[in-house]
Amino acid sequence: MGQTERGRFITIEGTDGAGKSTQGRFIESYLRRHGIDCLHTREPGGTPMGEAIRSLLLDKTRLEATPATELLLVFAARAQHIAEVIEPALARGTYVLCDRFTDATYAYQGAAGGLGFDAVSRIEEWVQGDLRPDVTLLFDVPVDVGLERTRERGIVADRFEAMARANKEKVRDAYLQLAAAHTHRIRVIDATAPVESVNERVRDVLSEKLSEWGRS
Ligand code: TMP
Repeated sequence: MGQTERGRFITIEGTDGAGKSTQGRFIESYLRRHGIDCLHTREPGGTPMGEAIRSLLLDKTRLEATPATELLLVFAARAQHIAEVIEPALARGTYVLCDRFTDATYAYQGAAGGLGFDAVSRIEEWVQGDLRPDVTLLFDVPVDVGLERTRERGIVADRFEAMARANKEKVRDAYLQLAAAHTHRIRVIDATAPVESVNERVRDVLSEKLSEWGRS
């Protein structure tokens, strides 16, 4: 029997209200239609320990947490997620679709939290080794559009959604800066467009990647 080909690691990123969840479901069904076994997960979370850390982080009671505490908590959840879920899935040939990953840490804790990219990068290397997403879809909307959408949906803000507008701008800028630095990995998708156009753009990126990976 031949060796199982390693799965691919796909991540989804974006500011609040960019439509990540809808697009996540679209990507999952696209992959399944192409006969690809796919595990859809999220961060912070994805394991019982990770989900417990997520509750601490997003807690409505707003337990005090410095940016450094947040940074260590998201990486604690990530270390568990990688060991328990992501690596085993990739090793058995399953594609992993993850709603947010380390780019979010650069944007939220590094940029908005003021810790800087270097602090994130040092822990990233230690926790992840060589593990990086194969492709990242960044759903981008101006902060005001995202705020309007979450308001319309009547979402009760968690710790990060309740963040000051200036910090949301920092998150968006950081994501765009990361995309400019990693043009091959991070694909920016204009999420202000109607959902059908966003779907079409997602399909284009996936079809290009699947053919690059010999899966089209
Ligand atoms: P979600 O709204 O996409 O489910 O993500 C939950 C929140 O967690 C989101 O507002 C961003 C935040 N977050 C961080 O601050 N750092 C991280 O590393 C990750 C993965 C998420």
